Amino acid sequence: MFPKRRMRRLRLERIRPLIRETTLSVNDLIMPFFVDETIKKPVEISSMPGQYRYPVEQISDEVGNCLETGLKAFILFGIPSSKDDIGSSAFDEDGVIQRAVKSIKADHPDAVVITDVCLCEYTSHGHCGIVENESVLNDPTLEILGKTAVSHARAGADIVAPSGMMDGMVEAIRTSLDEEGYENVLIMSYAAKYASAFYGPFRDAADSGFSFGDRMGYQMDPPNSDEALREVELDIIEGADIIMVKPALSYLDIIIKVKSEFGMPTAAYNVSGEYAMVKAAAIQGWLKEEEIVNEMLISIKRAGADLILTYFAKDVARRLHEYGEI
Ligand code: PBG
Repeated sequence: MFPKRRMRRLRLERIRPLIRETTLSVNDLIMPFFVDETIKKPVEISSMPGQYRYPVEQISDEVGNCLETGLKAFILFGIPSSKDDIGSSAFDEDGVIQRAVKSIKADHPDAVVITDVCLCEYTSHGHCGIVENESVLNDPTLEILGKTAVSHARAGADIVAPSGMMDGMVEAIRTSLDEEGYENVLIMSYAAKYASAFYGPFRDAADSGFSFGDRMGYQMDPPNSDEALREVELDIIEGADIIMVKPALSYLDIIIKVKSEFGMPTAAYNVSGEYAMVKAAAIQGWLKEEEIVNEMLISIKRAGADLILTYFAKDVARRLHEYGEI
């Protein structure tokens, strides 16, 4: 029998766009930026070609360039001029992130400014909390995370994003924010964050490598997925507004499960190593960067992510701006 149901009819060039199930919009994208208090001009990050650390004085202009493409949301990571045992530069009212947020908000009040709330960039040992006998103490770290989040909110942050995987971090931050009158500041929690080798280039970029051990004691073990659902559930109960799965590409199954189980606004972090792999291959001429990026980001959306944090956000936004769709 000749086939009656011909699937190829749907693939005719003029029909394809009509039945496309998943789309990518500039509203789905969050651009990460590194702000470095110790530099005077932008410095390219060697393990992330095309990405830069920006001086505090220049970050607002860079955000302005992105806003022109339609991009609206940015997440900031800080490189402070001084580090200590407890990461006190993280909650300094005059710290690198606090200054960066103030300058962006002064120039671009409509930009959505998200701040990463973690201690690893601010501690001398590079771990995401207070350390005793080479182990990260959970509960004493919470107080510092609360103070840090409040200082970001005071500077004008719209969303704080705790990424340290401490137990109870969302509740501690929600309580601190509410006590200080920042009940409209959202929390985007790195809820299911895996102990991943894909963060390697970020640690160069943010100067947040650790001096001993690893992060297995707080970040999740890659083979686990039920545990990711329990992590996400706890963060929802504690008051997270948006939950995140990180990294994205090796964890698409986790995105699907989290989205279908909880139906929460769900973000996925297309991390530094995922960026570096594509860039490295593209520079060699082994992959077509734009097509690879489109396919990767669409796959993350198709898995159920509402938002994607990606170092490709600016490039993609520029292309969306130019062509309408990609
Ligand atoms: C801080 C933090 C990390 C990333 C985001 N926030 C690094 C880490 O946990 O070691 C990684 C982002 C990326 O690789 O792009 N805790």
